[in-house]
Amino acid sequence: MIPVKNNVFWVGKTDWELRRFHGDEYSTHRGTTYNSYLIKEEKTVLIDTVWKPFAREYVEKLRREIDLEEIDFIIINHGEIDHSGALPELMEHIPNTPIYCSENAVQSIKGHYHKEWDLNVVKTGDKLEIGNGKELVFVEMKLLHWPDSMACYLTGDNILFSNDAFGQHYASENLYNDLVDQCELFEEAIKYYANILTPFSPLVDKKIKEILALELPIDIIAPSHGVIWRDNPIQIVEKYQKWAANYRENQITLLYDTMWEGTRIMAENIAGGIKQGDPEVEIKLFNTAKTDKNDILTEVFRSKAVLFGSPTINRSILMSMAAIMDGIEGLKFKGKKAASFGCYGWSGEAVGKLNEMAMKAGFELVEDGLKNKWMPDRKNIEECIGFGERIGKKTK
Ligand code: FEO
Repeated sequence: MIPVKNNVFWVGKTDWELRRFHGDEYSTHRGTTYNSYLIKEEKTVLIDTVWKPFAREYVEKLRREIDLEEIDFIIINHGEIDHSGALPELMEHIPNTPIYCSENAVQSIKGHYHKEWDLNVVKTGDKLEIGNGKELVFVEMKLLHWPDSMACYLTGDNILFSNDAFGQHYASENLYNDLVDQCELFEEAIKYYANILTPFSPLVDKKIKEILALELPIDIIAPSHGVIWRDNPIQIVEKYQKWAANYRENQITLLYDTMWEGTRIMAENIAGGIKQGDPEVEIKLFNTAKTDKNDILTEVFRSKAVLFGSPTINRSILMSMAAIMDGIEGLKFKGKKAASFGCYGWSGEAVGKLNEMAMKAGFELVEDGLKNKWMPDRKNIEECIGFGERIGKKTK
């Protein structure tokens, strides 16, 4: 049990080994934590649990700290299995303990575990007295990032238990934001936002305004993954507001896959041309077949323009590009520009297809696209440089 503040303790699990999350969907280069919190006031309250594989270990550890019968209430802020996964193991010991959750979480908890537990629905503004003059105030966080997501606020100690919001997949023995490497922390925080919260950006902005309007003092933001924000916790709220506002840095990213190096050569020369058109812009190139997809999506999130490249295969594009284009469409990026390029030998549909996909994903095309028949020669390389230079100027 690690103290958080006064009678609040961290009882979660640090998962140093995790490298893939959500099945294989999300890379976790720095592991993660499943944060669970125990409040010991006149009432004893458990907030969230841990991922299913650690259920037994978690419950055993908790039993060494307290008699499980002492737990008066369990709060499940979100039904996803990384937070509710230890419930079946825990409820074997205390089957009648009331669980508080959002209306939608009744569906997700029942849907996952098919058990008849004492589920009690709370909505925004509802309060739970926990003694010593303190209470938990609930705030629904619908679609941040699941329909069942919820946060709760502990009065007196001024702690916001925000669940997934403001989290990071970041394992550390240092529980607090001021004790870890700041570059690593913000790299994981922006990756988390880009890959999980981007589609819900309009709701993020609205919800933050709603929470700030309550004028609750916030000393600590305790999310369900990664470090706890105790040093200037509002800094991550301000980052979220920035990220939610069609975030763009002065960066252009080129994403491509290549069969016989022709499309790679195009990419590199287009990049050189962009630099001529806009010497200030940051340019990054990624071969989508060789780069982690979540890292790519984070770079897309940071970019003001993205160039998509693929040679033509079977009248279409290479598979790694098809997968990333689908991921990009799902994240609903806004306010970004795009262009497409690629080599071909025979039919040459790739650029048209990439253009269609980019427009469907909400990007604004700044060029018709550049198709190159066979391997680029000197003249074609000049065309690539010119294409890049025009894009550099148009996206300044
Ligand atoms: Fe960390 Fe949506 O679960």
